[in-house]
Amino acid sequence: MASRSRGSAPRWTAVFLWWAALCCLLLPAAAVKHENFKRCDQSGFCKRNRQFADDVSASSSWTSPYALDPASIAFKNSQLSGTVLKTLGEGEHKARLPLTVTFLESGVARVTLDEEKRQKGDIVLRHDSKARKERYNEAGKWALVGGLKVSEGAALSDQVEQGYTKVFYGEGGKHQAIIRHQPFGIDFQRDGETHIRFNERGLLNLEHWRQKAEKPKEENKEGEEEKKEEEKQEAQTGEDESTWWDESFGGNTDSKPRGPEAVALDITFPGYEHVFGIPEHATKLSLKTTRGGDGNYNEPYRLYNADVFEYEMDSPMTLYGAIPFMQAHRKGSTVGVFWLNAAETWVDVVKAKSTANPLALGVKSHTDTQTHWISESGLLDVFVFLGPNPQDLTRQYGELTGYTAMPQSFAIAYHQCRWNYVTDEDVKDVDRKFDKFKIPYDVIWLDIEYTHEKKYFTWDPLTFVNPTKMHKHLEKRDRKLVAIIDPHIKNTDNYPVIDELKKKDLAVKNKDGNQYEGWCWPGSSMWIDCFNPAAITWWKGLFKYDSFKGTAPNTFIWNDMNEPSVFNGPETTMPKDNLHFGNWEHRDVHNINGMTFHNATYEALIERKKGEHRRPFVLTRAFYSGSQRVGAMWTGDNLAEWSHLEASIPMVLNQGISGFPFAGADVGGFFGNPSKELLTRWYQAGIYYPFFRGHAHIDTRRREPYLPGSPYTELITQALRLRYQLLPAWYTAFHEAHTIGAPIIRPNFYVHPEDERGFAVDDQLYIGSTGLLAKPATKEGADSVSVYIADDQPYYDYFDYTTYQGAGHHTVPAPLEKIPLLMQGGHIIPRRDRPRRSSGLMKYDPFTLVVVLDSSNSANGTLYLDDGETFDYQQGAYIHRRFAFDGKRNILTSTNLASGSRTAKLDAFLKSMTKVRVEKVIIVGAPKEWKGKTEVVVMEEGAKESARRKKTAFEYYEADGKKAAWAVVRDPKVGIGKGWKIDFA
Ligand code: NOJ
Repeated sequence: MASRSRGSAPRWTAVFLWWAALCCLLLPAAAVKHENFKRCDQSGFCKRNRQFADDVSASSSWTSPYALDPASIAFKNSQLSGTVLKTLGEGEHKARLPLTVTFLESGVARVTLDEEKRQKGDIVLRHDSKARKERYNEAGKWALVGGLKVSEGAALSDQVEQGYTKVFYGEGGKHQAIIRHQPFGIDFQRDGETHIRFNERGLLNLEHWRQKAEKPKEENKEGEEEKKEEEKQEAQTGEDESTWWDESFGGNTDSKPRGPEAVALDITFPGYEHVFGIPEHATKLSLKTTRGGDGNYNEPYRLYNADVFEYEMDSPMTLYGAIPFMQAHRKGSTVGVFWLNAAETWVDVVKAKSTANPLALGVKSHTDTQTHWISESGLLDVFVFLGPNPQDLTRQYGELTGYTAMPQSFAIAYHQCRWNYVTDEDVKDVDRKFDKFKIPYDVIWLDIEYTHEKKYFTWDPLTFVNPTKMHKHLEKRDRKLVAIIDPHIKNTDNYPVIDELKKKDLAVKNKDGNQYEGWCWPGSSMWIDCFNPAAITWWKGLFKYDSFKGTAPNTFIWNDMNEPSVFNGPETTMPKDNLHFGNWEHRDVHNINGMTFHNATYEALIERKKGEHRRPFVLTRAFYSGSQRVGAMWTGDNLAEWSHLEASIPMVLNQGISGFPFAGADVGGFFGNPSKELLTRWYQAGIYYPFFRGHAHIDTRRREPYLPGSPYTELITQALRLRYQLLPAWYTAFHEAHTIGAPIIRPNFYVHPEDERGFAVDDQLYIGSTGLLAKPATKEGADSVSVYIADDQPYYDYFDYTTYQGAGHHTVPAPLEKIPLLMQGGHIIPRRDRPRRSSGLMKYDPFTLVVVLDSSNSANGTLYLDDGETFDYQQGAYIHRRFAFDGKRNILTSTNLASGSRTAKLDAFLKSMTKVRVEKVIIVGAPKEWKGKTEVVVMEEGAKESARRKKTAFEYYEADGKKAAWAVVRDPKVGIGKGWKIDFA
């Protein structure tokens, strides 16, 4: 897989072309090469632990060999500590495993289990390895940014029960951790009911260090015979040692200097039928089980960041990023775990008949979800969340790993990308065409071909002759450019970047401690090691305007291939025995690696110029818990197929509930050429991706929105305009993600956590808290979609106010020219209705408020607004309004939600917004009694006496069949940052 570009087609004869076309029809579609990626039984530690699980469940007499030594238990400052002893077989001594259980103020508990011998460095590494001896204990350093304050109220229970230690914690002591000594296990309870169980099935397994019994190699015992000998030994010890000491796959051998060191645990969610999370997989939101059976998977979900070429749908295979955060949901309760481990990880999911007492309070489901987490190395480090609702989980997870960075406003508008815009003139030409066709867009992207021979921080002198002029051209309409910078640095002569990388010794090392060399786009390359603080400092310097010449304040960055993708490496990535800063093996840090690079680029953009003070934008392909703090992600190299369009919705929804909501998929599909219908549908769906970008492979035909022609171009333009119209609502949703960790697009279970029928619904979405409910059409030839409504509120069609009411499925028309979008009664949606060429040009445009009444004639909504560019919002420079329609008094109000005090920055911002007004208020579901009314009274705070009670024109439109009545107040002229009232009485 050295190159993904298939190059230009030779000139074939017509007959041969015909023959080739026929073959294409007969050949299976593009498909992932399974043989390039491991199955569980090809990954030694996964195989061992799965086998262990099978053996345990087959045995009736087996007990877990782990016991907490009661004499070791101490409780201090909300932390329980002790030693878990692992019995290593009859007569043998025991491995000592230091345990901590920390109770945090947020109500979250953290459990860690280490291994004393490795902790003390009391082990011998094989092959003279320079690797660290400890289990990797720095994942938290990269992933965690807060939420670690310990609880003040956590206390040991006074009730002494033989064999158990109990701790009360959480608000009002509602939570309880019941720690069983032998075999060791923990039950986590909320209000007296167990929600999460550790080691219930006895699958806890921390592979303790052992010395390899090196046998002198007998000359005549090679190959087969040696294998037989090993098998004989295995039969004696009962353990499969075949993958303990080295392991080969696809021609690469992993030297495993520390031997077997996996860490595994079973975690059960009693009474929970649905589990969500652990992205990234191309699968359903409600995770399928992984131990076979009808329609289920046979493989565990894998988390091992990888560049999976032509990835397949409906699969637990690994993809580019990993977030080991899982939530379990049932009516009335959401709980979860965050498995803080950066090594290759597999997660089995099984559903079993519940062992919970069916009469117990709150147990609604008769199913338990049993999970089995298996990581190759590192600490056992697990955070336990007891909810009780989905909002608690996303907030608490965000407290720990950070919330979504507040993006610049352009970043949530439309991005136009392809591999590649080939010259600076090409870029300008595309830009002009968008204008000519009056299609809004904000950002144009440059893929790897802009560089001089794939040397990042350079421009191809023949094709990108004048990058400065190109940037200036884009600047005219407040547009931006994103340029790609990957982590592999071309290993070539006359390239100062590689010279410095080598000289300063900042590259990742191979197992022997020499700078590692592998293959990627530029050919021979080396990889910057962003675990090294000196590498970050150096990297930051490379982005300064006088260093990366030709860039400008409107240049932003795309980090790709940072899993890292290594074309000649095992599973297209780095050898696990490579070494990073601090001599941590790549094995230990693999899933965090991409995030360190992404972080470094983010920091570089912050420091591009002294005093510049603007929010960076960096897109990443690889990610881990915490990546949300510094940018956006996309789902990588999808295919221009309907199935990929369909799968993108649950994938992006899953990102949202997993703390990294600034997510999207390549609109149009990366590989292949979409039909015009598919392209149009993809835009109609893509407007709901928080990160919204069209992108295409170098071998595909051009497909910019102005190209498909009538009616497709018009329909795509219409979709883009809808995104732009709703940008104020999107920005407000981003602000919620930024402050409370709420997903930007939300699945049904998150919005209606009590609606059991909707828990698995993952093909429709709510935008933030706006009540906007979208169901993208993802099937070829569709002319309607079936929208699932969870409650009894009226839902109105966004465009013509057709009413849909009643819990259940509703057929909503969706011919190609109609975007199925409903508004749930009870919300007020802010928008900007004037079509513009870029979001920057909308900065001072007036607002429209759409008041969508619920069944009691009330509605609420919010608007968050700042300069969309700088960090001044952190010093109070923002507008945050709450709009409320009181159905009893018939009054619409705008009140302040901003909590901060007045600052100079706030004053300046408000001043810049004084002329920005509400130009229209639309009331959907307007009461009949308003018929005949022609005026409403508008009152604005601070208005002059004469203008204090201003009469403003009002129009009422009667209901028409299923179409609801609506009304409009035209130009009430109230300031968007002001307090005001409109009296409809
Ligand atoms: C792989 C990325 O996933 C894709 O989006 C990009 O176009 C190519 N690399 C080339 O840079």
